[in-house]
Parts: sequence; structure tokens; C-alpha cells
Amino acid sequence: MKSHQIAIIPGDGVGAEVSAEAVRILKASAQKFSFEVNFEQFDWGCDYYLKHGQMGPDDLLEVLKDFDGIFLGCIGDASKVPDHISLAILLQIRKGFDQYVNLRPIQLYPGVDTPIRTATPETVNMVVVRENTEGEYSGNGGFFMPDKPEGFANQMAVFTRKGCERIMRYAFDLARTRKKLGDEDPVGLVTNCTKSNALIYSMVYWDSIFDQIAGEYPDIKTDMALVDAMTMWFVKNPQYFDVVVASNLFGDIITDLGAMLQGGMGFAAGGNINPEKEFPSMFEPIHGSAPKYTGKNIVNPIASIEAARMLLDHLDETEAADGIQAAIMKVLADGEVRTKDMGGTSTTREIGEAVEKEFLAL
Ligand code: IPM
Ligand code: MG
Repeated sequence: MKSHQIAIIPGDGVGAEVSAEAVRILKASAQKFSFEVNFEQFDWGCDYYLKHGQMGPDDLLEVLKDFDGIFLGCIGDASKVPDHISLAILLQIRKGFDQYVNLRPIQLYPGVDTPIRTATPETVNMVVVRENTEGEYSGNGGFFMPDKPEGFANQMAVFTRKGCERIMRYAFDLARTRKKLGDEDPVGLVTNCTKSNALIYSMVYWDSIFDQIAGEYPDIKTDMALVDAMTMWFVKNPQYFDVVVASNLFGDIITDLGAMLQGGMGFAAGGNINPEKEFPSMFEPIHGSAPKYTGKNIVNPIASIEAARMLLDHLDETEAADGIQAAIMKVLADGEVRTKDMGGTSTTREIGEAVEKEFLAL
């Protein structure tokens, strides 16, 4: 029997509640499709910091490296540890395990309200491929006499040829296989999210590499949009987009917008992926830790369940992943259980159990 070793890092705030629902659906998947999952849970996060002065042990990458996959709840609680300190663990894992793809599907599920009047499950159905290890988040920079009138800070973006080529190839490969909801065939479109009219070195370089890689994929259509204009088009014409490739910062920004198109943070998940499987990949809901809701069992676990689906997909448990997708669709379309963000009163656990039940019954 195939067996997967999964590390669970619930993190802070509502992380524990949403992780429990991810674990629930992973266990149900193993049961239904006859594979084994073993979990090991790690208590890293802000409480760990208060005890030990750091977010996790020194050797955390060593500890995680032999797992087949990592599920991360959410990190950060500014009442305990400043965000720029606590969130470093996230970037440490993304960079340390060369999870250079941050894959963020933007899907409006049936039965879910979106602030965009014209949006439907067919029109809001795209995926952002965000570069996840360098660019604007390379972490290079410094302060110069910060408290003096002439003080300054600088932060340097780093765009390597290798980093740009590999994220773009991933986007083009994905465009060859990805199908929009209800479509028989792939649309086969990659849109380059750029800002080369103002960032005249980094984004000009990025664009030139995009054009080069596009040349390797003559069967895939391409387009480009400046990131500011792209935020408009996301709202006005979401149906146009299929695969969008973006730098680290731009991908971060447009995926929060994408989360709103799909009805809110409660639905948005992401994978931090090392496609070569040289290191474990990490999957997470992209929402924060919502400390004020901690322990109340009211947040929406769909994003976490979706992250678990992406994890199984990455582990080639395709049937289980497809089943989870179908179960999520059905539960949301039925609309019998709805968490507070959907205007209902169901608990986190009730949604998780409803998806599990639907999945097992498929
Ligand atoms: C995300 C988050 C993180 C990021 C923060 C918390 C560092 O916003 O995963 O989108 O910017 O990558
Ligand atoms: Mg973000």
C-alpha cells in the first residue's frame, strides 16, 4: 500500500481548527482510495516563540525534509510576535525547500456569493503561478543611519535567469493541461503579469525571458498585462484569464484580489511547490490566523480542505483529489451548511464533516 508521511504545522490563531479539517479529509481520502497517510504535528508558531525565542527549532528544515508533504495552517499573531519576525518561518520553508512555484487557483464555487455581480463559477476559474523564492522578496537590503534625517532603507529585488525561466516553464506546462470548469479542452493561455513600463531593469528582463520561453511553446497563446491594469481586468473580465504568471510581490497582491473574486479568504488555497520533488512541498490556506476567531469553531475550512486537495494532487493521488473537488462543489452548491462568512451559522467542523460525508458517498 502506498504511504504518505505528512507534516502538519497548525501554526497560530485559527490554524488548529482549520488544520483539523484538512487532516479529516486526508484521512477520509486514504480510507476511500486505499493508501496510507501518517501525520506528525509540530507546535511551531508564536507560542513556541514566546517560550524559545524563535518560531521553530534551528533544524526545522532538517526535521521536515523527509516528509512527502507539509500542510501549514496559518502563521502570525501580532499581539504576541511582530509579523515580520513570525512570518520569516514561512519564507524560510519556501526558500529552504526551493518551493519556487506558488500555485494559487482562483475558483468561484457554486452557491458562493462574490462581490462581483457578473461572476459565475465558469467565469472565475483561473490560476496564478507566483514566483516564490526571489524577486521582490529576496530579502536583500539594509538600513543606513535609519534614525538620522538622512537615513534610508533599501530593499533589492533579485530576478535571476534561472528563477524566471523555471517559473515561466511551469506556467506554460500548466497551460497545456489545465482546463476551465466545464471545458473539454485546455484554453492554453498564459498571461504575463508585469510592470516593465516602470521597472525598467527587473521587469524588462522578466519580459524578455517570458518571450523566450513562450517561443518554446508555440501551441500556447500569450498575453501581457501591467499589474495595475491587471487588477482592473481581474474584476471586469475574469473569464478572460487562464494561467497568469507573476513575480513574488505581484503574485501576492493579485491573489488577494483573486480571493475576493472567489468569495473571500475562506475559499483561497495555495501550494508552495518544488516541482522536481527534491524537497517536500507545502500547502496552505492563504488566509491569516484570525486571532480574534481562535477557538470559536466558526471560520470557513474550505480553503484548508482545498489545500489538502492540492497536496493529494501533488502526491499523484489524482482520484482522491478530484473527489474532494467534487465534494466541495456539491456541499457549497447545496448550501445547507454555511459558515459565518457565507452568511450562515454552521461551524468549521460541520462544513468539514459535510465535505467528508459527501466525499465518502461519491
Ligand atoms: C501570502 C502571504 C505571505 C506572502 C506573507 C504572510 C509573508 O501574504 O502567502 O500571500 O506575502 O507571501
Ligand atoms: Mg499574501
